[in-house]
Amino acid sequence: MKLQWTQDLSVGVEEIDSQHKELFDRINDLDSAMKQGSAKEEVVRLMEFLDEYVIIHFGAEEKYMTDRNYKGYTLHKTKHEWFKKEFYDIWTKLEAGGITPDVIVLSNNLLITWFSNHIRSIDMMLGSFLKSNM
Ligand SMILES: [Fe+2]
Repeated sequence: MKLQWTQDLSVGVEEIDSQHKELFDRINDLDSAMKQGSAKEEVVRLMEFLDEYVIIHFGAEEKYMTDRNYKGYTLHKTKHEWFKKEFYDIWTKLEAGGITPDVIVLSNNLLITWFSNHIRSIDMMLGSFLKSNM
C-alpha cells in the first residue's frame, strides 16, 4: 500500500500540509526500496533523509503548539517521541540484520499505518485549533 495525500488529509495549515506531502513521497520511496530489494546502503540513505525530515516536521508542529499555548501539546509531543523511538528501533534492527521481512513489516506499520492515523486524528485536532488561532 502506498501513501497518497488527498485533500481530506489537509490540516488547513499550508506549511504542515506540504511537509506531510513530502513525507508521504519519501516514505513511499523507502517502502519501494525495501520491497524491491534495494541495497542496504540505499535504504539507509532514505532513512537518514526521513529521520532528518521528521525532526524538522515534528519541530514545526511543536513550535505551532508552544507558540499558541496549545492544550494538547504534551500528548501530541509524546506521540512524536514514541514515533522517533520506534523509527530508531527499526533502524537498529536493519543495521544488525539487514532488510528482513520483520523490518519491512515493522516499517510498513510504523510509516504507513501509524503516520496516516496520526494525521487523521491528532494532527487534524491541531489543525482545527490552528485554523481558529492563526
Ligand atoms: Fe503530529
